[in-house]
Amino acid sequence: MSAISSERIPNNVDLASNKKLQKALEDWQPSFIDWWKDMGPEGFQEDLIYLRTAVSVDTDGWAKFGHVKMPDYRWGIFLTPPEKDRLVNFGDLTGAAPWSEVPGDVRKELRRLIVTQADTEPASVEQQRLLGKTAPSLYDLRNLFQVNVEEGRHLWAMVYLLMQYFGRDGREEAEDLLVRRSGHADSPRILEAFNKPIDDWLAFFCFTTFTDRDGKYQLGALAESAFDPLARSTRFMLTEEAHHMFVGETGVARVLDRTVQLMREAPEGDVTARGGIPLDLVQRYVNEWFSASMDLFGSEDSSNSATYFAAGLKGRWDEGNDAKWPDHRALEGSYGLEVPLPGGGFERRDIPLRRAMNLILRDSYVDDCRKVVERWNRVLERAGLTERLYLPSDRFNRHQGVYANMPFDPHGALLAQAEFDARRDALLPSAKDYAYVRSLMKPCYAPGEFASWIAPPRKGINNLPQEFEYVRFARNGAAQ
Ligand SMILES: [Fe+2]
Ligand SMILES: [Fe+2]
Repeated sequence: MSAISSERIPNNVDLASNKKLQKALEDWQPSFIDWWKDMGPEGFQEDLIYLRTAVSVDTDGWAKFGHVKMPDYRWGIFLTPPEKDRLVNFGDLTGAAPWSEVPGDVRKELRRLIVTQADTEPASVEQQRLLGKTAPSLYDLRNLFQVNVEEGRHLWAMVYLLMQYFGRDGREEAEDLLVRRSGHADSPRILEAFNKPIDDWLAFFCFTTFTDRDGKYQLGALAESAFDPLARSTRFMLTEEAHHMFVGETGVARVLDRTVQLMREAPEGDVTARGGIPLDLVQRYVNEWFSASMDLFGSEDSSNSATYFAAGLKGRWDEGNDAKWPDHRALEGSYGLEVPLPGGGFERRDIPLRRAMNLILRDSYVDDCRKVVERWNRVLERAGLTERLYLPSDRFNRHQGVYANMPFDPHGALLAQAEFDARRDALLPSAKDYAYVRSLMKPCYAPGEFASWIAPPRKGINNLPQEFEYVRFARNGAAQ
């Protein structure tokens, strides 16, 4: 059951014995490939990319590496093996057996959760589709495409659940997932951060650090689900997500490495004169993408989150950790939040714990982000600099929840609107920042070479050297 088959759609769910589902997925497959060719990485569909593909779901050795054309990537359906004697470990069903089918009374909620997760997967591929044209190296180009094909696979993982467990509704949802478009005026993606353009590689590295990390926490919460096929799908997706966050975190760290080097070479000079990205500009990108990703967690006080938790659909991060979460039912207790008052000032509101599950998940996420920023700051520390990057306050630049659309500064102080407007370009990327970063985005496609604004990685992919030909162009090395 856990071996991966070599059928048209590779899988470890014994698709061959479920002809109806197999047919539904095989009917959807050409639409997916059409979508990929239209909306996937533009200009690289004929090139050979050094990609890893899932060949087994065992923790050691699920990944096989080799050069493939992206449209030939083996997108498939892989679930982690069933956990023997698994019991639901949160909410009203604590201690009960998990479900292998969808119960009627939570069908609507479960479908909503799966569709929302599913929608982010093709969205990010769409957001990143032009970045290949300006990759700072073949190594980075390959990493971008690895992220893209895996987001495609995550879509497959969710579409399998929709088609297998939600009948006709599920098939319709699967079609719609290929119809919505990131940033489209009439038919946008569901969540706002997935409609924002990602026009340069600094934005890509911030997105994969902060927005893919939101994905990690959402998937982690769904990996606790009483609906066992969802738990097992998301568990395997988490193994792929780790690489996306690696690409983001090391990408920003390499930008810092390079900036620090340029600052050392010309201590009095401006790094932009040497094609580097200044630290304050990096901070503004962090401010933008961290705050946009915070919005993905939804309202601080949410009756939906209480329903999802009570019904066993969505738990907390690391719910199985009894030391961290001694009370898995969460029927008592509350979460204190400082809520701004219309006339100015704040009032403490105590949100009953189950209604605060979005916030609790977000706190786990913020702790993780804080560690990332600490690791970035080590680059600055080692270079003997006093400057540091930081995470902005949860109030800054928010468009969801109690702090939405209010002029807070990154430390959480409420400013007069005029003061915020005057300082805006020091807090968030300005048109000038974007134009400068874009001016640096020139493709660097010679094996082993890197663009001016980024340092090489410490090591290559799969222990290969930096100068390995991670992408073999069909058209003789030319940028297309
Ligand atoms: Fe994903
Ligand atoms: Fe991802």
